[in-house]
Amino acid sequence: LLCLTQPTDPGWAARAVDALDRVLVDHAHCEMKAASTALSLAARCLDAPQAVLPLVRLAREELDHFERVLGELEKRGLELGPPPVDEYAAELRRRARESGRTDKSEHVLVDRLLVGALIEARSCERFRLLHEELARRGRRDEAELYRELMQSEARHYTALRQLAIDVRGDEPAVIARLEELARIEGRIAAALGGEASIHG
Ligand SMILES: [Fe+2]
Ligand SMILES: [Fe+2]
Repeated sequence: LLCLTQPTDPGWAARAVDALDRVLVDHAHCEMKAASTALSLAARCLDAPQAVLPLVRLAREELDHFERVLGELEKRGLELGPPPVDEYAAELRRRARESGRTDKSEHVLVDRLLVGALIEARSCERFRLLHEELARRGRRDEAELYRELMQSEARHYTALRQLAIDVRGDEPAVIARLEELARIEGRIAAALGGEASIHG
C-alpha cells in the first residue's frame, strides 16, 4: 500500500476496534498534531513559497478531521485529555534527521515533507484496517468515518510527496530518499508491537 515497506500486524485491527474509545482519543490528538505540523512547515517555507498555500490547506483539512473525531468523542462522553507521546512519529523524525546527509535548509524541508508523507501513508493504512474491521462487525457509521478519512490521508500522502518533489526539483532524488525513509519507517512500525493506538 502506498510506499510502506512493512504491513501492520494482522491482529492490530481487532485489538484497536476492541479498544476503540482509547483509539479515538489518540486519533483526535493525531489529527491536531497533523494540523499543527502542517502549519509549522508552512511557516518555514521561506525558500519554497509555492508550498505555503498547499500546507495551509492541508492544515485546515486536518483541523476538520480533528473536529469530526472530537464529535465522536463527545457522542461517547469521552474527554480529549492531554496528548499522549507519539513514539512512532518522534522516532521517525529522529531517525530521519540522523540519516539526513546535509544541513541545507531545502533538504531539511524535503525530509520533513517526506516524513509527513510517510505518517499519512501509515495513517491511511491503519484507517483502512479500522474501516474493514468495523464493517466486518456491522458497525456501519464508524466504518464509514474511517473510509472517508482513509481517502483523505491517501490524498495527503500524494500531496506531500509531490510538494517534496516540487521543492527539491529532482524527482529521482526525492523518490530515492522516500524509499530510504520508508525502510526506516517500516522498522519503527514493526518494532512498536501493534498496541491499540493509531501508530502503536
Ligand atoms: Fe487527517
Ligand atoms: Fe492527513
